[in-house]
Amino acid sequence: MLRTGIRLLALVLCVSAGGDFDWTKNEKTSFYYGTFPTGFSWGVGSSAYQTEGAWNTDGKGMSIWDVFAHKKGKISSNETGDSSCEGYYKFKDDINLMKEMKLSHYRFSVSWPRILPSGLRSEHVNEKGIRYYSDLIDLLLDSKITPVVTLYHWDLPQVLQEKYGGWQNASMVGYFNEFANLCFERFGNRVKHWITFNNPWSISVEGYETGEHAPGLRTRGSGAYKAAHHIIKAHAKVWHTYDMKWRSKQKGLIGISLTADWGEPVDVSNQRDVEAAERYIHFYLGWFATPLFHGDYPAVMKEYIGRKSGQQGLGASRLPVFSPQEKSYVRGTVDFLGLGHYTTRYVTQKNYPSGFGDSYFADRDLAELVDPKWPDPGSEWLYSVPWGFRRLLNFAQYGNPMIYVTENGVSEKTLCTDLCDDWRMQYFREYINELLKAVRDGVNVKGYTAWSLLDGFEWDEGFSERFGLYFVDFRNKNKPRFPKASVQFYKCIISSNGFPSQREVESWKRKAVETCSSSNQLLAADPLIGHMEMVTEIVVPTVCTLCILLSAVFFMFLLRRRL
Ligand code: BGC
Repeated sequence: MLRTGIRLLALVLCVSAGGDFDWTKNEKTSFYYGTFPTGFSWGVGSSAYQTEGAWNTDGKGMSIWDVFAHKKGKISSNETGDSSCEGYYKFKDDINLMKEMKLSHYRFSVSWPRILPSGLRSEHVNEKGIRYYSDLIDLLLDSKITPVVTLYHWDLPQVLQEKYGGWQNASMVGYFNEFANLCFERFGNRVKHWITFNNPWSISVEGYETGEHAPGLRTRGSGAYKAAHHIIKAHAKVWHTYDMKWRSKQKGLIGISLTADWGEPVDVSNQRDVEAAERYIHFYLGWFATPLFHGDYPAVMKEYIGRKSGQQGLGASRLPVFSPQEKSYVRGTVDFLGLGHYTTRYVTQKNYPSGFGDSYFADRDLAELVDPKWPDPGSEWLYSVPWGFRRLLNFAQYGNPMIYVTENGVSEKTLCTDLCDDWRMQYFREYINELLKAVRDGVNVKGYTAWSLLDGFEWDEGFSERFGLYFVDFRNKNKPRFPKASVQFYKCIISSNGFPSQREVESWKRKAVETCSSSNQLLAADPLIGHMEMVTEIVVPTVCTLCILLSAVFFMFLLRRRL
């Protein structure tokens, strides 16, 4: 009842994201020295298929990624995640790495077919899979690292794809809810941060529109919208289940992780470019965030897809419609917004005539451009544009939600085995600094997750792109991990909680001196230590100075005699 009241109030108070965003105010300001609020959470992330390996071990069922990666021609060099980093066997070592970094949280995902091999709870629960995640969670908690658990990082049980067509089918909403419910039942006494879906944009567009990702379908112009519709409903159902059944006992939070690039108008004084950039973001982030915060798709999506569907002679829009009941069911079902962000594009208006064919991309009527001066060290699509991060965070204001940055990082090409990843340190330094500026702007960010702990299986790119803070030698069957220079760098940011200004450093030093001098007094009470201090602090410097003076006098004396 109270929750419903709060949701209604939030609805009344909330303003649409980007509504009052000032496009002209793009301060590309210099580096900002300062620290994050106390309690800010620093972490790293991973996902099951990218790191676990053990693809057919201990009763695990097949996922759509196991099947997709085994098909020839789908993945760069036909690589698979069969063994990947062997994280399933090496999680204890990995937690030690995290402990050394003094991380506050670790984001990982549960492989649905590892615990429900056929996808369905009614058929078989794989206790060995449950044990693996349970042990992982216990060890994290023993190590004072908060587990942040993603329920779906793309590895749908293959049986559900084959029998029902995966996310094309509405029945997935119920099956996902059963799986989530099992996770709450078995892990919910220890896990307090749940992420239902990771990057649903990618699941929908790359899985069902372009087919670059599993399940590899190319149902252009409709499949992605249908998949997204079911994902949004599935998220909402899980939120309601948790709310009704578990929240009062377990006191956890349910969020979703949305990934979006920033879109900057090519010409900010041109209204058509500004609208194109806004459309770019609404088709990316708003597609999911607007229904979950406000109960319906962004008006601009309904308008564009509806108009184009009409021009294509279709009787109804390719974008599915929420009924009034569904609108109120999905609205307000986010306890925190997870945000994944990597890069930026310039955007300009571009008309796609109706004869061009159905496609998510054509529906947006825009073109994406990049500045050739932007650094792009690794993945082809990933240009380093730090200021875009602050812009996105300021735009994503769906009633000032609590935000966790759930992914941010940069890759390098696989052949580059140089552990001195200075471009990654540069990327982290600048992106985290823009995050700090966003916090100062008033954006309610509670934590940051560097992507990723280890190099891993980079989806259709196989192992050819490395996002890890730790280098993994995939050619060695033990998959040893080696720290790149960015490990130490990130550790420094964590230990100083940002980028302390000179003034802050001075005041810390003062405090340290005060603490030290009181501890010195304690130490000085010990006569031996007192004596040693006198020797090192008074006797040694005095003797050295005398020696230097005497040698100088002696040297001058010699010189004068020669002259
Ligand atoms: C995905 C990660 C992936 C990263 C870089 C993200 O959207 O969630 O699994 O490694 O992109 O491609």
